[in-house]
Amino acid sequence: MEIDERDIDECNAVGWGGDRTWQLDRRLRPTDYLLRLRMEATIDMISEPIDSPVSILDLGCGIGIFPLNIAKKYGNASVIGIDISKRSIEIANELARKAKLSDRVKFMVGDVRAALPRESFDYVICTEVLEHLLDPGTALDNICQICGPATWLIVSVPHLYKSRKGQEGIFYRQVSDVDFSTIVDTQDRQLLDPNRKTYKYYHKQYSFEEISKLLNDHGFSVISYQGIKVQMRYVKTAMGILGISKPVRRLDRVLNKYTHNQYAGTFILKCKKAE
Ligand SMILES: C[S@@+](CC[C@H](N)C(=O)[O-])C[C@H]1O[C@@H](n2cnc3c(N)ncnc32)[C@H](O)[C@@H]1O
Repeated sequence: MEIDERDIDECNAVGWGGDRTWQLDRRLRPTDYLLRLRMEATIDMISEPIDSPVSILDLGCGIGIFPLNIAKKYGNASVIGIDISKRSIEIANELARKAKLSDRVKFMVGDVRAALPRESFDYVICTEVLEHLLDPGTALDNICQICGPATWLIVSVPHLYKSRKGQEGIFYRQVSDVDFSTIVDTQDRQLLDPNRKTYKYYHKQYSFEEISKLLNDHGFSVISYQGIKVQMRYVKTAMGILGISKPVRRLDRVLNKYTHNQYAGTFILKCKKAE
């Protein structure tokens, strides 16, 4: 596949998913239903006593929403968030400062394929990042090196799903000059505004078997997983109007248990280093 890594990094630097991630409520939770569902399901995979001094590394943390929400839930947790986007890390640091969490939540610019902090972590999180890497195996090998036998790795990737045109390919993105929200996100170059800067990115969707094999090939065993359904996006508006998002989210979690990968839009996998 013909793509220059520099194009991808430039797309990341502009702030991935800025349009959705900017929108946080006063408690720093995403207002986007799907993102919130995915965040809560990811955080739910951290199964520790609420007062435990759990240490967590979030790789590809974007503007730091997951680390900040983890630190809010686990009052003694220490969290490090790393992202390749300097701009996203600046925003993450600002949010941490405003939320008075800077003492327990640190953010730094870094590449998941390069040197990572050498301290020991109870959990390493890497959600919705591997699908943007041309060589996700290099990142997983790197992550494996910093994981001990007791470290949990939580990974998520988008499911091979009909909502995107292709399983794997280059996408083009044009963003607003004002707030980096996405104006066009397409594989079709004809839909692009020729006068606007275009960012390229790589995106790959995974079947459950494929992501499990990738993890196995790079040193991890999948211990459990959960599927997050994309269809729920369509009931979001109705839920907002009726004010019933909480019970529907609960119902969705129960349904997820039984529908598994068949209907999932995203898989969240909880792994351990293979023995
Ligand atoms: C789709 S966002 C996911 C953000 C967040 N983890 C989540 O689950 O919502 C992908 C993030 O990965 C970051 N990223 C992409 N390549 C990276 C790399 N090689 N090293 C570190 N971060 C990377 C991007 O800048 C972006 O913030």
